[in-house]
Amino acid sequence: MDTFNNFLPLLPQLGIGVANLAAAFLFLYGLHRMASPVTAPSGIFVAGIGMTVAVLASFLYAFDVSAAARPNLPVNLGLVVLALVTGSGVAWWAGRTVAMTAMPQMVAIYNGLGGGAAGAIAAVELFGAKAVGMSAMIVTLAGALIGAVSMSGSLIAWAKLDGVIKQPLRFKGQQLFNGVVLLATVVCGVYLVLATQNQSMLVLALPTSIYLFFAFALALGIFMTLPIGGADMPVVISIFNAFTGLAVGLEGFVLQNPALMIAGMVVGAAGMLLTLLMAKAMNRSVANVVFTNFGEVKKQKQGAIQGSLKPMQPGDAGIAMRYASSVIIVPGYGLAVAQGQGKLYEFVKLLQSGGVDVKFAVHPVAGRMPGQMDVLLAEAGVPYDLIFQLEDINDQFATTDVALVIGANDVVNPAARTDKSSPIYGMPILNADQAKKVLVVKRGEGKGYAGIVNALFYGDNCDMVYGDAQAVLIKMIEAVRGLGLPAVVKKTK
Ligand code: TAP
Repeated sequence: MDTFNNFLPLLPQLGIGVANLAAAFLFLYGLHRMASPVTAPSGIFVAGIGMTVAVLASFLYAFDVSAAARPNLPVNLGLVVLALVTGSGVAWWAGRTVAMTAMPQMVAIYNGLGGGAAGAIAAVELFGAKAVGMSAMIVTLAGALIGAVSMSGSLIAWAKLDGVIKQPLRFKGQQLFNGVVLLATVVCGVYLVLATQNQSMLVLALPTSIYLFFAFALALGIFMTLPIGGADMPVVISIFNAFTGLAVGLEGFVLQNPALMIAGMVVGAAGMLLTLLMAKAMNRSVANVVFTNFGEVKKQKQGAIQGSLKPMQPGDAGIAMRYASSVIIVPGYGLAVAQGQGKLYEFVKLLQSGGVDVKFAVHPVAGRMPGQMDVLLAEAGVPYDLIFQLEDINDQFATTDVALVIGANDVVNPAARTDKSSPIYGMPILNADQAKKVLVVKRGEGKGYAGIVNALFYGDNCDMVYGDAQAVLIKMIEAVRGLGLPAVVKKTK
């Protein structure tokens, strides 16, 4: 009985430990399931349960452990619940209503909030703690710096993606200026670390140095991001995503909260890997994205383009594909803009019913964020076995009757192979130009993300089908239905 009574007070702590462990396991298992589009929805669900468990564990932590260990800290249940309900409500509503093309902006905002939350935790620790050890102080300040940079930088990234800030802000000596701001932040940080080792210094130093430290860190995020062109924002957001994860992980270490530590490190590592993969798929280094002005590279001269643009009516293009035996579809950003994915799959089913072999070829950086095309096609119900990644399908274009390029541009630009002066030189592209016939659906002569002309459109084997992708697909469907051809019944052995 005595043993039981001694064990009883330890129960909440044990509960917190087990809950944190469970949350960590659920995060990792959820992430593992996100590796394939087939299991990704359940992966997101599992990680969501992990997050709920982590929030519950934090509740237990706040109301049991911290109340006992830090009796002076007021724990306000009402405020905590209000914050949780407001945050969850806004996120639920935003998640349901956001347009597919506005996803990068949404990711930027949420990422900024994550960085801000890590910075806020650090601020509470810095203002609240009387004297902490030097190493804990350094970790807290590192998390605060990274979190604050990520927050202000992500907000600028959001403003650029949303068109609120239209032009990159560049001035002479910008990188030196950013270096000075970074140095000022570090000086404040070092002063704070030294001050915590000296109580008499602390009272004077604390508030002003903390305010200055955060002001410089936030300014650094802003000035780092302002000169980078809108075109590179998805990569920048991914970098800030890694920063936020790292900041959260560091603050989790300070709070000795395993769920925060693991979630932060998982996000940090995933963000960094994603950044590297995106940079690789664009054949650029991360340093090139952050320190080079992509816009300036765009002004490089492009090789002279031979040939002419040959328009074709949507109905004729649809009928041509109905009589082809194989079609590979290359979706791009314009398909997401037009929200044409539903009509595209309707058209594909029509072709399939006529016995046409149809496949989708997805480029790793098609669209404006990683996996955007996969999500778009999944949303329309396209079966996963019709969707192929670049390396798995590129050899098949040469033996395909028609490549239908719909709302895509840069990812099929042959300049990436041949034109050394092109900003996309070296980027792996989909070999659409090698198909017997290429049909390109786009509204006019608008350029792609990289702002360069595409020689593919001028090729002898290419016809341009002008119009909004969804409107064009509707006309294609009507034309093929108008043929009144019977469906081909595939023979089964
Ligand atoms: P883009 O090269 O950006 O081309 C999109 C094309 O879609 C434009 O040429 C545009 O031409 C057309 N379009 C726009 N709205 C349309 C509509 N409603 N209907 C039909 N067509 C429409 O797209 P992409 O081929 O997908 O390439 C992606 C680019 O983004 C690459 O340069 C890549 O490096 C960059 N990027 C991607 C990522 C990620 S992770 N996905 C990250 C950073 C950068 P019109 O105006 O003539 O219609």
